Amino acid sequence: MLRLVVLVSGGGTNLQAIMDAIDAGRITNAGIVSVISNNPKAYALERAKAKGIPQQCISPKDYENREAFHEALLQAVTDAKPDLIVLAGFLVVIPEKMVAAFRGKIINIHPSLIPSFCGEGYYGLKVHEAALARGVKVTGATVHIVDEGTDTGPILMQKAVEVQEGDTPEILQRRVMEQAEWVILPEAINRIANRE
Ligand code: GAR
Repeated sequence: MLRLVVLVSGGGTNLQAIMDAIDAGRITNAGIVSVISNNPKAYALERAKAKGIPQQCISPKDYENREAFHEALLQAVTDAKPDLIVLAGFLVVIPEKMVAAFRGKIINIHPSLIPSFCGEGYYGLKVHEAALARGVKVTGATVHIVDEGTDTGPILMQKAVEVQEGDTPEILQRRVMEQAEWVILPEAINRIANRE
């Protein structure tokens, strides 16, 4: 069984999609062993709790500096003995030390078709605001392997989603989640778990 450690910061709908896919048998040979948030108020922690999955918060506010926070995060992740680390709406830049320690074993879901609307400053709703401001007719989501850059690692899966007349960032975000993120993130995990 592939040991998944899921890192979250917010609502946790992608975490929910992974848990649902495991329950439904759309992800096999994998289980979530730990959920870690940087944000104590993340609803994702409640979702993990409700499922009886071990969860904890490592908040930068509880550490003297960024380095101490990074050390604590790396320690918590390492302690969970992950085979795969899934960034499911984790809005902290992954420390280089962690990338090196788990090279090729960290994946991220990003709410656009990389290389559009990605990199520093493009996260959450901001991605969809930028897509609407540019007037693109198609957007989507990407699952990629995490390297030292921001959204620069090898692409594993992508799915396109149409922008519709009258979309607000919130409406577009929801459509991208429903039609793309919640589909390709579980599928990518299942492929890795089954070496496809
Ligand atoms: C998702 O849309 C995810 O793609 C995005 O944050 C949201 C988290 O939602 N991630 C990024 O923007 C990473 N750069 P969730 O907490 O409901 O899964």
